[in-house]
Amino acid sequence: MIKLALFPGDGIGTEVAEEAVNVLKFLLDNHSVRYEIEKGLVGGASYDEYGKPLTDETLKIAKNADAVIFGAVGGYKWESLPIELRPEKALLSLRYELGLYANLRPSKIYDELIDASPLKKEVVQGTDMMIVRELTGGIYFGQPRGVFDLEDGQKKGVNTLVYTTKEIERIAKIAFEIAKKRRKKVLSVDKANVLECTELWRNVVAEIAKGYPDVELTNMYVDNCSMQLIRQPKNFDVIVTTNLFGDILSDESSMVAGSIGMLPSASLNGKKGMYEPIHGSAPDIAGQNKANPLAAILSVAMMLKYSFDMDDLADNIDKAVEKVIKNGYRTADIYSKAPGTKLVGTKEMGLAVIEELKK
Ligand code: IPM
Ligand code: MG
Repeated sequence: MIKLALFPGDGIGTEVAEEAVNVLKFLLDNHSVRYEIEKGLVGGASYDEYGKPLTDETLKIAKNADAVIFGAVGGYKWESLPIELRPEKALLSLRYELGLYANLRPSKIYDELIDASPLKKEVVQGTDMMIVRELTGGIYFGQPRGVFDLEDGQKKGVNTLVYTTKEIERIAKIAFEIAKKRRKKVLSVDKANVLECTELWRNVVAEIAKGYPDVELTNMYVDNCSMQLIRQPKNFDVIVTTNLFGDILSDESSMVAGSIGMLPSASLNGKKGMYEPIHGSAPDIAGQNKANPLAAILSVAMMLKYSFDMDDLADNIDKAVEKVIKNGYRTADIYSKAPGTKLVGTKEMGLAVIEELKK
């Protein structure tokens, strides 16, 4: 029996999570895998109901589950709330409380979607990278933090970038292990020319690299990396980096992949994981059956692989997604009027994946 938590959240999060769960249920039923899904409110939806973005109840559901399926959180309605009550806080607390320190964000371009990328075909074709983002440390969680009053009446805003040896070691190991199964290249991204904390990062990653003689390690400063990602995206295999740099670089990498609506993610602490599309709640298109559910569906595939070692089932989903794209199904974000393509909604895209799985 596998125990799942389902937190659809806000905006298109609810729509894409629904399709992802439909796909998952179809596949598990078909393979006689027993499961239990417990639903919870997070983000703005939870705030509206309980006055906070994450309740103890919901956190308990997450802690009891083997894996969490997450939609997206946030929306205009909650933007002016104090930071502690904003929908995003639910996500940050779940990551922290569950100890999900390793965030895997694969980014690859499907040949059929090359036109959806704003970059030139010859630049993006063949891109296939994995960003390994540290997720429970760095400037996102460092103390001290806050806005403080100064004696002269000014204010002072403070956040702290902090990493310990152990935190760097464990994320570096994840990156090298993944690289071993890929093209055997790890790029560590830092700002070691300016920030001492990331100089430590660079040194610790180099120590870990000694245990992986068959994997090549290179280093890059984050400013240079943000440029190289657009210039030569194909050169990248595994990128390992800090929480904040990984946040920024993974959004950038989504443009190389055509659309942010295609990119899944896994946030891991051993086998325990939370799985979510990397896109947000997109309030501008929410409730209109326009969102691309493929990132959420591919996230469920990552769950089967990383939390449950069901690589075959994960593969089935990956292949079905490839096939629906080959067959021309396009949500608005990846639609380019190319011959043989048809514009579909969230539901139709989800159904198309299930139809493929039936074959
Ligand atoms: C992400 C998001 C989150 C982050 C926000 C919503 C808190 O941008 O998962 O990349 O900054 O980590
Ligand atoms: Mg982000």
